Amino acid sequence: MKAKIKLNKYKNNIISISGSKNSSLPIIAASILCDEYLTLNNIPNIKDVTLLIDILRNLGQTLIFKNNTLTIYPHKITTNTLFDSNISKLRGSYYLIGSIIGSNKECDFSIIYPGGCTLGSRPINFHINAFRKMGLLVNTKKEKIHFEGNIHPTIHDLDYPSVGTTINIILASVKLEGITIINNCALEPEIIDLINFLNSMGANISISNHTIIINGVNYLHSTNYTVSSDRIEAGTFLILGALHNGITIKNINPNDIYSLINLLRSINVDISMTNNSVTIHKNKELKPFNLVISPYPGFPTDLGPLICVLATQINGTSTIKDTVYKTRNSHIKELNKMNCLISCNKSIISIEGISKIKNKTIKAYDLRCCASLILAASLNNKFTTIKNIDYIFRGYENIKDKLNSLGIDFIV
Ligand code: EPU
Repeated sequence: MKAKIKLNKYKNNIISISGSKNSSLPIIAASILCDEYLTLNNIPNIKDVTLLIDILRNLGQTLIFKNNTLTIYPHKITTNTLFDSNISKLRGSYYLIGSIIGSNKECDFSIIYPGGCTLGSRPINFHINAFRKMGLLVNTKKEKIHFEGNIHPTIHDLDYPSVGTTINIILASVKLEGITIINNCALEPEIIDLINFLNSMGANISISNHTIIINGVNYLHSTNYTVSSDRIEAGTFLILGALHNGITIKNINPNDIYSLINLLRSINVDISMTNNSVTIHKNKELKPFNLVISPYPGFPTDLGPLICVLATQINGTSTIKDTVYKTRNSHIKELNKMNCLISCNKSIISIEGISKIKNKTIKAYDLRCCASLILAASLNNKFTTIKNIDYIFRGYENIKDKLNSLGIDFIV
């Protein structure tokens, strides 16, 4: 699918941020651990969420999704072959592995490899190592992975604070008798959201410095839980506001995007905030920056391609080094087609500004690449055509209406 995007007349407006994609996916997958029905609020109506809902329905779960509220009546998953082709379309479907392990005393199932955006190589070796450490026999074949055996509580010392691995260990061990410890865990806000959700059902999970302690419980009761807002959507609109004439985003905890707010302030962006909103005021001249992207509380990798677009509009040379996804570069070639001057050497991206963005036909290669191309297209008042625009609907709710309300035309 293609879309045409251009600047019509920028309107400094208020954007209400939707629920978090990367919280919703593990929380929905975790629902099968619950022993009663549950209600989730603030679930974004985006493609990745509806794919996961479809996968769960095909596995016999009852889910009702209406007006951002998802009611789930979990049933025990009895199949031992998870070969739904939707699984291979969604990276977040690997959370089903943790949840199925966590809801069965004895495991014996196969699953096809999870898919998702291609950000260079996206292995799941950390997950597999963790499941093996818990006692499972994990057999990886060309197209599927087989899990067999019983898990036991253990101490995990992660070599890298991987978001997905931390989540999968939590899901597998929340109902496991005994104490599971995750040292050097990831502590992204989405992980805190998942822990708060599980604790709201009676789980016993605590955090101390960079360690998560899971004291297994044998029953998880009903809950009515509201998922946090999407910090990456919030960051996307703040960067858009910094590129244009300001913006206000509401329904967001500014603490979740502090690294972005700090960076923007350091380059001269005028920002004010309340406890649930952030406003970017009309811009002064911005300064170039040198940014290193790292796990939370560092600057989020998912905003790397977007902040790159801002750098193209700042006089001088800026640099970005992503230490999380070292080859997350698919936006560079496309932005250069639009007259940007971006190069990448030894995983350091250099951006020479200021570029006058030209309208072109370009192609998105993943979700955040797509978002960055939309930001660039919003800088020209002639239509840019973006191929593979479908990516944007995986992660941004009502993107067309939100852009229109800012005076940016988006025609699919
Ligand atoms: N890694 C491995 N082996 C593994 C797992 C990860 O080598 O088994 C590497 C990855 O290749 C990467 C680094 O470790 O270089 C970090 O990966 P991590 O496990 O932390 O990330 P993830 O769980 O795969 C989630 C989000 C990503 C987000 C990252 C980092 C979901 C579904 N995905 O991925 O979101 O970029 O954490 O914050 O929650 C997006 O929303 O566009 C997106 C890609």
